[in-house]
Amino acid sequence: MICNNVSLNNEGHLTFAGMDTVLLAQKYGTPLYLMDENKIREHIRSYKEAMLKYFPKGSAPEFASKAFSAKCIYEIANDEGIDIDTVSSGEFYTALKAGFPMERCFFHGNNKTDADIRFAIENGVGCFVIDNEDEMVALNQIAGEMGVVQKALLRVSPGIDPHTHQKIVTGSVDSKFGVAIETGQALELTQKILECENVKLLGFHCHIGSQIFESEPFVTAGDMMFGFLAEVEKSLGFTSEMLNLGGGFGVKYTEDDPEIDYEEKICEIAEVLNKQCEKHGIAIPKIKMEPGRSLVADAGMTLYTVGSVKEITGYKNYVSVDGGMPDNPRFALYESKYTVEIANKMNEEKNFVADVAGRCCESGDIVAENINMPKPQRGDILAVLTTGAYNYSMASNYNRIPKPPVVMIKDKADRIVVKRETVEDICRLDV
Ligand code: LLP
Repeated sequence: MICNNVSLNNEGHLTFAGMDTVLLAQKYGTPLYLMDENKIREHIRSYKEAMLKYFPKGSAPEFASKAFSAKCIYEIANDEGIDIDTVSSGEFYTALKAGFPMERCFFHGNNKTDADIRFAIENGVGCFVIDNEDEMVALNQIAGEMGVVQKALLRVSPGIDPHTHQKIVTGSVDSKFGVAIETGQALELTQKILECENVKLLGFHCHIGSQIFESEPFVTAGDMMFGFLAEVEKSLGFTSEMLNLGGGFGVKYTEDDPEIDYEEKICEIAEVLNKQCEKHGIAIPKIKMEPGRSLVADAGMTLYTVGSVKEITGYKNYVSVDGGMPDNPRFALYESKYTVEIANKMNEEKNFVADVAGRCCESGDIVAENINMPKPQRGDILAVLTTGAYNYSMASNYNRIPKPPVVMIKDKADRIVVKRETVEDICRLDV
């Protein structure tokens, strides 16, 4: 199986985190998101331990909560003692409601509104990640009005193009995120931030993209960033205490994706980064990383009920499910690939090829293409694996379809952490 929290039992049913998925579908209904708390904690711990082992004291991961945002995840992050990255008032308000200490919260985004800035300062968000000059001006002014000196990092684009889907590349010179080193604007803006009375610069941040399997783009980004840190030190006399290398490690969605050992990768990257610092003549700062996907993706699974099965003679087959792009827009956006199983037919031969289609009035509403499966029928339970990242967090109400609930499993006990939306919820804000 694709991940060690997925297996099958004596009834020929798919299990997830040791639980029978068919029984969970019966208990909670479908569509249903499942999350495996022990898997999330396992990933957090392996990042934490590896970063402590291979990077200087104080280095640690932050959870990029855009991958999965609900109160439960901030409770887990708090319990495990890691910081979080948030990108909107909505995300950090959720964290606040979960009792997460706001001083351990980083605030990202390429266009924070004045209201966001004010709300974040009011609630004691620990560190802003400044994206651009307009934002710096607004932050300095609002922090001044509120009588606060706000800690911040500056987001820099190192000019790296990792080999991943173009829509999830973020560190190229022409990216909408951050300021470019290459054009000299990053250095200029650093000087301006250092002159701000109400902003205290701690260091720099970069994030090159997502679903990256190789070490090389991180190592190249490190080299660019340390070169930049050295230049800042030489020309502005500012020594960075922190460098955040962003997130981005890939996860195994299908058998075609490589397995990735995060500790091994971190060790590999750390070895090169330490040498790069020597080369650039600077002391290695505290290193932060911001994994999102790799902490939660394989800790998630989505269950659907099969509806109509359509065979278009001589063309193709569709298996329609009771969810689709509203709960998982990733095929529509990136043609993402997934592993799909018919949860109640795990011992049957996979002799039927079909696209898994959602229920929206939209041809692009496909969950997965060309899937080999036992021939399903109405009422079967279809499972899509590795949906813990960027599924619930990107869910919408397109076609006014209510969002599925999230059930968290821990030590073979299941609990609702996000309730199922109802049609009343859908109309709640209509006047
Ligand atoms: N830090 C920053 C500043 C980011 O923008 C992101 C992701 C991360 C960290 C976490 O990256 P990760 O470890 O998850 O790769 N919706 C897309 C992914 C977009 C990622 C956006 N930024 C998807 O479903 O594939």
